[in-house]
Amino acid sequence: MRVYRSALLRFADDGSALYDEDGLLAIAPDGAGRQRVVAAGAWNALAAEYGQGAVEHLPGRLIAPGFVDMHIHFPQTDVIGAPAAGLLPWLENYTFPHESRFVDPAYGAQVADFFVDELLRNGVTTALTFATSHPASVDALFTEAQRRQLRLITGKVLQDRHSPDGVRDQTEQSLIDTEALIRRWHGVDRLGYAITPRFAPTSTHEQLSGAGELAARHPDVWIQSHVAENLDEVRWARELFPASRSYLGVYGDYGLMRERAVYAHCIHFDDDDRALMRDTGTVAAVSPTSNLFLGSGFFDYAGADRVGFGYGLASDVGGGTSFSPFRTMLAAYYVGREGQTKQGLSLSPQQLWWQHTAGAAKALGLAGVVGNLQPGCEGDFVVIHPAATPLLARKTAQARNLDELLFALIVLGDERLVERTVISQSLPDSQAAGT
Ligand code: GUN
Ligand code: ZN
Repeated sequence: MRVYRSALLRFADDGSALYDEDGLLAIAPDGAGRQRVVAAGAWNALAAEYGQGAVEHLPGRLIAPGFVDMHIHFPQTDVIGAPAAGLLPWLENYTFPHESRFVDPAYGAQVADFFVDELLRNGVTTALTFATSHPASVDALFTEAQRRQLRLITGKVLQDRHSPDGVRDQTEQSLIDTEALIRRWHGVDRLGYAITPRFAPTSTHEQLSGAGELAARHPDVWIQSHVAENLDEVRWARELFPASRSYLGVYGDYGLMRERAVYAHCIHFDDDDRALMRDTGTVAAVSPTSNLFLGSGFFDYAGADRVGFGYGLASDVGGGTSFSPFRTMLAAYYVGREGQTKQGLSLSPQQLWWQHTAGAAKALGLAGVVGNLQPGCEGDFVVIHPAATPLLARKTAQARNLDELLFALIVLGDERLVERTVISQSLPDSQAAGT
């Protein structure tokens, strides 16, 4: 058993924050050797039972759930900051040429190694990630995640048309490769597979049909794609699939909307689209730094809540500009505020933090598994140093309540706040038995 004494942040089932200024977190291996939270709460209430042995005391620190990134592209680590007029020229001029380099497995392995370290440096302990169309890129990322025991979901990108040589795949082989990768990796340790059509415009009818069949055959596998990000993209998708009610409707028509289906962006929606998300249990990966950088638009939080579909936060690196959940939460605050193209809101810091932890986990179908520190959750957490910079030290010292503390961290924070990222380890049976 490991016991920590520190300020502690968790979330109740209704999404409200639970905060103990003097908290206790106890983590121990379960029957299978996986480290899980066994107790979390006020030191005073729990110390008699859990605080009698060795305790790691972290004065002036905050323990919080590891962050969950609902949408990120590992092969776009080096595409961050590529300027373009909008999404489609950005894909054509920067992203596709760069992703073609992943035909070389050694290159993919080197980027995967860096990428996973960068997630951890930023306090991200669970990620739903795009790879490239090259199956070796999936093997590379799973290998690096497995080595560090990270909970990670990824998949081979499906894109058999409107894509240049070097990233375009072949319809039948792409589906064979996908199924082989599902069998090799899905459910191994903490790894999960996501069927990954890039977006409707770069897949043929046959590839989308095949993806839908795979999704039906493997109901516990995730699905990920992009939708309604940019107006030129929406027009293009409507031209290519005139029979579908809307761009989102294309995915519904091919059996690609269900629980564990995650669509990045979801900006240019009407209420019928929102209802389709809700009724199918499909969720949105809100990607605010990407949407602001590429000029795509502003996710409509009020619309999503009015109709009632699930969502959580994502970096969308490399359209997104930062791996840091703090940067993403701040951008989400700005996007929520924007009131010219939609209703403007003032999202609370607790709400923003929930969207990147327990809320994102819930949207992924992983509530009670990750993104929180309630008993039973896997023991992934971050140790935050609220005084990591002179300005943060000044500002957080003046915080009079949790909202003021969390807002100071969100507005001023980045990876310098993350002093340590702890991943739930799986111990060998021999060690687990005696602990
Ligand atoms: N739509 C299709 N592919 C991509 C991608 O790589 N990034 C973003 N932001 N949108 C996409
Ligand atoms: Zn994306």
